[in-house]
Amino acid sequence: MHRRIITPGALAAASLLLAIPASAASHSPGAPGIGDPYYPAYGNGGYDVSHYDLRLTYQPADDRLAGTATLLARTTQDLSRFNLDFLLDVSEVRVNGSKAAFATSGEHELQITPSRPLAEGTSVTVVVRYSGVPSSKRAYGFTSWLRTADGGVAAGEPESAWWWYPSNDHPRDKATFDVSVQVPDGTQAISNGTLQATSSRAGWTRYSWRSDKPQATYLATLAVGRFDVTRATTDSGIPVINAYSKDLGGHDGAARASIERTGEIADWLTGYFGPYPYNALGGYVPNTTTGYALETQTRPFYSPRQFANGANTSLVVHELAHQWYGDLVSVSQWRDIWINEGFARYAQWLWSEHEGEGTAQEIADYVYASRPADDPFWTVRPGDPGPENQFHLAVYDRGALALQALRNAIGDEDFFAILKGWPHTYAHGDASVDDFVRYAERVSGERLTGLFDTWLFQPSKPGAPAAADAAL
Ligand code: ARG
Ligand code: ZN
Repeated sequence: MHRRIITPGALAAASLLLAIPASAASHSPGAPGIGDPYYPAYGNGGYDVSHYDLRLTYQPADDRLAGTATLLARTTQDLSRFNLDFLLDVSEVRVNGSKAAFATSGEHELQITPSRPLAEGTSVTVVVRYSGVPSSKRAYGFTSWLRTADGGVAAGEPESAWWWYPSNDHPRDKATFDVSVQVPDGTQAISNGTLQATSSRAGWTRYSWRSDKPQATYLATLAVGRFDVTRATTDSGIPVINAYSKDLGGHDGAARASIERTGEIADWLTGYFGPYPYNALGGYVPNTTTGYALETQTRPFYSPRQFANGANTSLVVHELAHQWYGDLVSVSQWRDIWINEGFARYAQWLWSEHEGEGTAQEIADYVYASRPADDPFWTVRPGDPGPENQFHLAVYDRGALALQALRNAIGDEDFFAILKGWPHTYAHGDASVDDFVRYAERVSGERLTGLFDTWLFQPSKPGAPAAADAAL
């Protein structure tokens, strides 16, 4: 914490020149990024959001999104101004009820100057009125808004918020959400959490969704389109809402045969990861042509293409595993992505074992043997892959090999105690790869830095297969 020293002369001059409160001179702008070395402009400094309330209207015919975002935040420094990350067109900003000046800067920054500076440690309410056509906006040349024939979807990692709501866009600043979206009758608006209410008036239907546990900004999702919605309840009593585009063609059966097993799979995962952390579950499949899935909190996003060869329960396992590894415990920085993807992949290997399709050890042996030492796969370091390789297959597969190596080194009892203990130790917060290594050492009572260095941080193929007695 740095405070500039103000001379009485400077103070007098400042208050003479403008009607700035005397204290304003000690206030400074919040940083335009939260301090993530992979993505220096992502997130922002100087405040912490606790809640987003989004009240929106979306018209599929022209891909127009409009409404109001109300953010509840707390300052972490004295602020003369601060940024949000956002791409749509803003018409008005209010801070603590008063009109604030705003401007855009950089690729996705909305710079807000309140009429009065904000003191450290105080609560702030920010209201942003906006509208725009998300599909017309790009940042760094790309978009995470997936326009469909009958609507649109916000789903992308690390970026997806910029196209639909203003935020402090980094997993380190999680918040609760109310997302209420009005769409033309016959169209649905799908988001995270519980469906609090639906109401119809004058040709429009409003869907109001609530996430009452902290959620990272990239894990908030919005999908608008014509969906068939199914409802169920898990054995453990959690309501499940799934949504399938009415336009899935030949993929419809395989998508349902996978995602309708969400409750069963979530209950199975609790055996490895402990209690399911949220009060809602589900999945949705819009009619998008893209090919990835995303662990959007409580209700993952899936692409139709991923069901081209029949049911894909392994994918459902992957996205649901992220509810603990990625959502409940988020990455502190994007370099920590192994904590998400290595574990979600390992859960798929455990599912394979459960389904009688090969044990985790057999899959590890196969993955290790199938890639010769000169395969560039081994040059990617899962523990710090770089932004360009954040979702490289090595983060997933070598990341899971690291877990098999850990399991063989410390034994099943400690390994599964770690798998189950970790998400609840850092629940609703964030953690780093370092935190995990220290946690594993604490639970197992073993020195593990050598093992993790070999499997996560060396740009070469580890000499011993995961199956062998890994060097400690
Ligand atoms: N976390 C996602 C998954 O493993 C990966 C998303 C990759 N993002 C992307 N835009 N392709 O399922
Ligand atoms: Zn994943």
